[in-house]
Amino acid sequence: MLYRNLILRLLLFLPPETAQNLAETILRFNSPWILFGNYINSDNPQLNTEISGISISSPIGLAAGFDKDFRMLRALSELDFGYITAGTVVLDPQPGHPKPRLLRDVDQKAILNCMGFPSKGIKYAIESLKSLNDSKVSPVFGSISGTDITSMQKSCAQLSPFVSGLEVNISSPNTSGLKTFHDSGKLSEMINAIRDLTEKPLIIKLPPHIDELHEIEDSFKLARICIDSGADGITLANSHPTIDPRLSVGQGGLSGAPLLKSTLQMVSYFRSHLGDIPIINACGGIFTGDDVFSALRAGANTAQLYTALVYRGPLAIRQIKRELLTRMRREGIGNVADIYSVDSISS
Ligand SMILES: Cc1cc2nc3c(=O)[nH]c(=O)nc-3n(C[C@H](O)[C@H](O)[C@H](O)COP(=O)(O)O)c2cc1C
Repeated sequence: MLYRNLILRLLLFLPPETAQNLAETILRFNSPWILFGNYINSDNPQLNTEISGISISSPIGLAAGFDKDFRMLRALSELDFGYITAGTVVLDPQPGHPKPRLLRDVDQKAILNCMGFPSKGIKYAIESLKSLNDSKVSPVFGSISGTDITSMQKSCAQLSPFVSGLEVNISSPNTSGLKTFHDSGKLSEMINAIRDLTEKPLIIKLPPHIDELHEIEDSFKLARICIDSGADGITLANSHPTIDPRLSVGQGGLSGAPLLKSTLQMVSYFRSHLGDIPIINACGGIFTGDDVFSALRAGANTAQLYTALVYRGPLAIRQIKRELLTRMRREGIGNVADIYSVDSISS
């Protein structure tokens, strides 16, 4: 309530990127967040689960893009994420697109961005990871990207020893070069090339389908190639491509509540058609415990969120966990792993 009624209102007065930078600065001070975490966090074994053999305290993860340079991992862990997807980091530092590149649509509970991968580069991310000198950090998945296979390989080889797993972003709507990997041959070649370099879980983040069935089928073909080439799972999906003249490059990605319906459709379709896929992370429009429940019921193993953290604030994960537990109690389900059952796909 305090966040929505006061802090969010104050943040909304600031230009979106200034508000984001302010939040980042605050989240880089560890000590207050450790105190905050001691106060808010409670581990509930009913929510404990695993992702590719990695234990996580809940199936609720932070989506890529919030902590691009791996600088807030300690504080974000105190916000009670089951795991954190940090990045997307690219091999060499780059500034991203010019501003304005971040917009809010408060009525729709949405964000638009055309950030274009501003990144301090892999070496900086690794230094940040090394500086975490205690173990109280949620498992970190490093999101990497690039427009050619060699840079992907270098990023993977360098980052892999320092993270629990990798998420490969081939789907940002803001970097046209990533479309290279929407070609099945190139996608397979890239995954094979990085699969050889890491034994850690390898997740590929796919583009969304919007409306048409052929789009979901196109996306599905990419998922099939990912699994056949050795990936352990997929994240469904990235922000939705959108045109907006207020953004510096005239187009970008839409995130937030409007994405939920498509996310659930994709998860359900992919889970029922890809029987052999170990991991599906649902991403897009997850705001509440009921949304997490719906995603897991549709067949996801975990749910990732970004925009909900902005609109619900630092207590978001604690609240979502409570909402999820309430829903599980109502449905008579004792453990998150039991939310999905084959019979429930269409419900
Ligand atoms: C400002 C912003 C930056 C983002 N940057 C990245 C990124 O670097 N890599 C990535 O894979 N996804 C990125 N995303 C997409 C999110 O990870 C997520 O897929 C998308 O926002 C949908 O989830 P949500 O509705 O919970 O926000 C970004 C999203 C936003 C709003």
